[in-house]
Amino acid sequence: MSLDHLISIRDLEYREALLLLDTAEQMAATQSHRVKKLPTLHGRTVVNLFFEDSTRTRISFETAAKRLSADVINFSAKGSSLSKGESLKDTALTLQAMGADAVVVRHSSSGAAHRLAHAGWMELPVLNAGDGTHQHPTQALLDAMTLRRHYKRDPSSPEVEPLAPGTDLEGARVVIVGDVLHSRVARSNVDLLTLLGAQVTLVAPPTLLPVGIEGWACDVDYDLDHALASEPDAVMMLRVQRERMSAAGGGFFPSPGEYHAAYGLDRQRFEKLAEKTIVMHPGPMNRGLEISAEAADSPRAVVVEQVSNGVSVRMAALYLLLAPEGHSHD
Ligand code: NCD
Repeated sequence: MSLDHLISIRDLEYREALLLLDTAEQMAATQSHRVKKLPTLHGRTVVNLFFEDSTRTRISFETAAKRLSADVINFSAKGSSLSKGESLKDTALTLQAMGADAVVVRHSSSGAAHRLAHAGWMELPVLNAGDGTHQHPTQALLDAMTLRRHYKRDPSSPEVEPLAPGTDLEGARVVIVGDVLHSRVARSNVDLLTLLGAQVTLVAPPTLLPVGIEGWACDVDYDLDHALASEPDAVMMLRVQRERMSAAGGGFFPSPGEYHAAYGLDRQRFEKLAEKTIVMHPGPMNRGLEISAEAADSPRAVVVEQVSNGVSVRMAALYLLLAPEGHSHD
């Protein structure tokens, strides 16, 4: 197998997805040591190219690259007045000329990461850190890693053990709730979780579901209580993306209070969850809107684990794309 870029989960085969997850587990094992740094990418340079706001994803990629001993250059280019294609092209030429070895890119336009990788402007591996409403592959991988660790685990045991290499999510059931329309996290997760054998149900008001949802490999339910009654292994709450809604003129739901009542993981719903159900959220959370404080702060919320797993997954992705032996996996 050779991974040239990480642009979309749709580019991954089943065994490539598992290789990323198994490698992430190996990376995670090194992160419990007192000295967390590995020499693997010593002398290589990773550029974080962020055209859109990000806190945790940028810091996570930076941490991952540094834990592998790479040098990191952070380049935030929000709000460029150049046309998107031109600014991307010029930036690509500059990065290549500066001797970068890989580019992590976040952009508000769907397809920007693909363009950067495939337009022929540069030869560097590209890692997509979120492009518009399209894909966010490392987020889906960190979610799958988190699920893999919890699925089938005894909920009464505090131990979270990594599973055996090659374990997939066959038979797991995941409910993803909320602003699917604007969510690259939901898209990437439907692709990856179903590739790994899980069954996904999306729950949202009709106004927050994209056109063509019938073609996605998942179920759709408009009723959150109904979906939760099926006792899923995980419920993933999506952030209500108010910045994308106001850019589109608003009107996606009547009021925050009504949204919370119909689609929020409020205290009542949270208390009714099956014992095994874990609560996930990609962050940043809107407490009181899509998720209540009770749910967000409870021991069954794995939000902080998701963040830690994010570093391991990004270390795995950088390693497989950049370390010489990473190209020879078969
Ligand atoms: C997500 C994103 O940016 O797509 N957040 C993240 O990567 N931590 C989800 C979101 O912004 O709601």
